[in-house]
Amino acid sequence: MHLQLDDVHTHYGSSHILFGIHLEVTEGRVVCLLGRNGAGKTTTMRTIMGLARTSRGKIAYNGKNIVGAEPHDIARMGIGFVPDDRIIFPDLTVRENLEIAARKGPGAEKFDWTIDKIYDLFPVLRRLDRHMGAYLSGGEQQMLTVGRTLMGNPLLLLLDEPVEGVAPIVVQELGEKIRTLKAMGLTILMAEQNLHFATQISDYAYVIEKGLIRYQGTMVDLAENEQVKQKYLMI
Ligand SMILES: Nc1ncnc2c1ncn2[C@@H]1O[C@H](COP(=O)(O)OP(=O)(O)OP(=O)(O)O)[C@@H](O)[C@H]1O
Ligand SMILES: [Mg+2]
Repeated sequence: MHLQLDDVHTHYGSSHILFGIHLEVTEGRVVCLLGRNGAGKTTTMRTIMGLARTSRGKIAYNGKNIVGAEPHDIARMGIGFVPDDRIIFPDLTVRENLEIAARKGPGAEKFDWTIDKIYDLFPVLRRLDRHMGAYLSGGEQQMLTVGRTLMGNPLLLLLDEPVEGVAPIVVQELGEKIRTLKAMGLTILMAEQNLHFATQISDYAYVIEKGLIRYQGTMVDLAENEQVKQKYLMI
């Protein structure tokens, strides 16, 4: 798995949002895209997925330029997207939500996700097996959204602010699960505003502001860089 964005520009209608993003995700890493509200984190993920149109630049996934490819084809190539809206099917059970997402994706050989394996990762979902999606808490919905994306057997997981608005205890739990996924060999690109959370699980960080990468470095280096944190990440 290798993903590289080179001088990527994105427009929403006539608004220019991304101004030449450079970003690389290498196999087995957890890479974090940090930035304040409106910095362009979600737009970067939507651009990778083909949900927002790239007007200039190149997105190489395993050496192939995927600019212009359809979102479902990009997903089929092994990029799984967990959007920040956590939309699950409210009138399907937890099991049904997982069942309908099952695909023999490119990660099938390596991970071979089954509902049972998702339940081993998120035991709370096993207990909710027959419950309707509509009755889940925010944290449970987030676990189901991640589980559903994993059922597509991706090689790269895009997580858009996975702990936003979930209870502190669930934040810790989700952090542990992301570390488990990394230990299993899954590569992850995560958008985050919560520096503390990002520090606990990421290897490498990119800081985005106003549609441009302003800093990149190891998570350890960023954690010690008061100037960059102050300038781009403090509220
Ligand atoms: N559909 C859209 N049409 C026009 N502008 C948009 C659209 N979606 C987002 N934007 C603008 O693009 C910029 C980047 O937004 P984006 O959602 O990528 O930021 P973000 O870093 O994900 O922020 P947040 O932390 O709030 O999720 C913002 O100025 C936003 O107002
Ligand atoms: Mg966002």
